[in-house]
Amino acid sequence: MNNVAVIGAQWGDEGKGKIVDLLTESADVIVRFQGGNNAGHTLVVNNEKFIFHLIPSGMLHKDKICLIGPGVVIDPKVLLEEIDNLAKHGYFVEKNLKISGTAHVIMPYHREIDILLEQKRGAKKIGTTGRGIGPAYEYKVGRRGIRVWDLIYPGQFKQKLNDVLDDVNDYVKAVFGHRGFDANRIYSEYSVYADKIRKFVLEGPLYLNGEISKKKKILFEGAQGTMLDVDHGTYPFVTSSNTTAGGVCTGSGVSPTKITEIIGVSKAYTTRVGEGPFPTELFGEMGDRIRSMGAEYGATTGRPRRCGWLDLVALKYSAMVNGLTGIAITKADVLNGVSRLKLATSYTVEDEKIDYVPSNIAEFERCKPVYEEMEGWDTLDPATGPGSLSPAVKSYIGFIESYTGVKVYILSVGAERDKTIVFKDPFKA
Ligand code: GDP
Ligand code: IMO
Ligand code: MG
Repeated sequence: MNNVAVIGAQWGDEGKGKIVDLLTESADVIVRFQGGNNAGHTLVVNNEKFIFHLIPSGMLHKDKICLIGPGVVIDPKVLLEEIDNLAKHGYFVEKNLKISGTAHVIMPYHREIDILLEQKRGAKKIGTTGRGIGPAYEYKVGRRGIRVWDLIYPGQFKQKLNDVLDDVNDYVKAVFGHRGFDANRIYSEYSVYADKIRKFVLEGPLYLNGEISKKKKILFEGAQGTMLDVDHGTYPFVTSSNTTAGGVCTGSGVSPTKITEIIGVSKAYTTRVGEGPFPTELFGEMGDRIRSMGAEYGATTGRPRRCGWLDLVALKYSAMVNGLTGIAITKADVLNGVSRLKLATSYTVEDEKIDYVPSNIAEFERCKPVYEEMEGWDTLDPATGPGSLSPAVKSYIGFIESYTGVKVYILSVGAERDKTIVFKDPFKA
């Protein structure tokens, strides 16, 4: 049995897409288990760039099955656009895509409520991606959601839609002075999507567990990151799903006993998009340098990412809540030529020194980083392999390993597949 989960170990955009694409080589089935098209996972292959929002990042490999699992929220319009784009580039194999019937559907009112709520929050906004993710999960947990199963059966869909719209319209009219949503219009639009999606839909957990019992290798692709987890992140500045290792199981219907490795992806520094605390954020020249060298602009919304030094306190927290068995460090090349590097190893809150992430947001907001400095490196050459890494790079990796207690399995030094040094392959562990 060999089933690997790839989890964002920071605030998202760690380079999960690249790592998943790389590990797909050894896997049979690649599964998204949470989030929706708030995610933007970038793959650079043969000088072509692909941004995946809903389809697992294994789709560029022609013989791999890609499953959108039960824990995902699906905007069908975005999914179909993604399919069209892949097909146009010769990368879509119809029989390889599977969608769990129990995944929830993002409806037009979810998108609109997301935006209206953000406007209402004003200065206290979360900085969501505006894709309807939060409301879609709210409706799911509130047992008023529409699942893919409902969508693909016309009678069932019409009934569910009429029922939920009664509620939705009462709410949006009263709270936002909105004119309300028209059931017929949504029904017509979504029926077209349903017709195109129907052929991909199946019993997700049944399929996946069947593959596992046939000794197939499963690769679980996380979206967002640990610090954006709805329970374990910087609440309320989080997304609305469990981005951490527990979410792999609830979002796929696969038992924790079936997961053999959990790989946390972390940049060699830190970024965050949207609002919320970020102790190691850099506001001056160094922050700008990282943003421009790392092309740190959101893959989904194009927003500039906030940039800062590597926060080892947060990374160790991530190792704890996910039970990480390995770490993938990405974008080490972005730090090329920076002579002194800083890593946060504790925080001070007022006069007290702490070495953990406080879960009370008010306390976390007051945390100031305490840094250790290390020597930087000039260049990184993946072609020459691990043996030729400079002492400075080795020290940086060693420091991360000794602080977190987790081995670095992979070092990524460029966006392309071959710009990677693999110390240990989690599928061969
Ligand atoms: P994800 O959401 O975690 O998949 O990450 P994103 O795709 O949103 O952001 C990561 C960005 O960094 C993308 O533009 C990748 O192409 C790029 N990237 C990934 N790994 C590396 C790396 O090692 N070096 C550089 N320079 N870019 C990388
Ligand atoms: P990937 O998978 C980085 C952030 C948003 C906002 C918060 C809530 O590419 O790493 P939401 O729309 O989910 O309700 O927004 O979460 N966010 C992400 N940040 N990477 C992502 O995905 C993100 N998905 C959501 O910026 O702060
Ligand atoms: Mg991203």
